[in-house]
Amino acid sequence: MVVDNEIKGRLALITGASGGIGAACARDLFANGTSLALTYSSNKASLDQLVEELTPQAEGKKISSHQCDVSKEGDLRRLFDEVKQQHGQHPDILVVNAGYGKRTSNILDISIEEWDYTINVNLRSSFIITKLAVSHMQEQHWGRVIYISSIAAGGTSINGCHYSASKAGVQGLSKNLANKMGKSGITFNDVAPAMITGTGMIATEEQLKGTPGDVSNIPVGRSGSTQECANAVTMLCRTGYMTGQSLLLSGGLK
Ligand SMILES: NC(=O)c1ccc[n+]([C@@H]2O[C@H](COP(=O)([O-])OP(=O)(O)OC[C@H]3O[C@@H](n4cnc5c(N)ncnc54)[C@H](OP(=O)(O)O)[C@@H]3O)[C@@H](O)[C@H]2O)c1
Repeated sequence: MVVDNEIKGRLALITGASGGIGAACARDLFANGTSLALTYSSNKASLDQLVEELTPQAEGKKISSHQCDVSKEGDLRRLFDEVKQQHGQHPDILVVNAGYGKRTSNILDISIEEWDYTINVNLRSSFIITKLAVSHMQEQHWGRVIYISSIAAGGTSINGCHYSASKAGVQGLSKNLANKMGKSGITFNDVAPAMITGTGMIATEEQLKGTPGDVSNIPVGRSGSTQECANAVTMLCRTGYMTGQSLLLSGGLK
């Protein structure tokens, strides 16, 4: 069987590219030769700035920007229509990064509405967007799907059980699809970060003080960077022999 790990010339769809980790993934994949379809939900200015930064380095690669609230099935369907219209194809690489997590730790403070919304944004949308993406990948017998999950999936979290459950669900989705679709040419993996600063979720190490994510509790003694998340995502895109894996990116935190 031919081994094809070339990502140059492919189209990558990255959700939540208006945020820290999504933007870093966009920069890294773009530097490695992919065209980009990028989404934002509310922060258009941030994505416009990223597109402006990347456009001078385009060299024939295309970048498109799309508004999409991933909690709405209609938005996800419109996103795929727009991508097809603007790039003439559906994505070859899908980075399911958009995510939500309001920091509420105690189950008694987590409302049922908050539970439903968190599951909707993080898990239900991951299922729907994957369903929309796999047909094109199957047809060409090549695809890469990477979910940004979290260390929280395993229970360790500065957030509550709603967030952990949503991210554990994403890992289950990914591992099941890796098994069921192993022969399709599509790989499914997740990157499970912890304490990544320079993001909307955690701006600085200062915000982690006194929490279980305090850098004094992290074995390597610092927070992680968005570039380090992007490194793992790009590696997974280039490594078709790896599927069904969850990469814990946590500076040694368990
Ligand atoms: N930072 C960490 O330490 C850490 C650790 C573990 C996992 N993660 C995961 O990493 C991913 C990226 O987060 P980040 O750390 O980069 O934080 P961020 O900078 O706050 O980015 C979050 C992104 O998700 C988008 N988003 C939120 N709700 C959405 C919705 N309903 N529909 C569509 N997009 C939505 C935001 O879009 P707008 O801003 O445009 O609204 C933004 O682009 C998330 O899945 C998060 O759970 C982060």
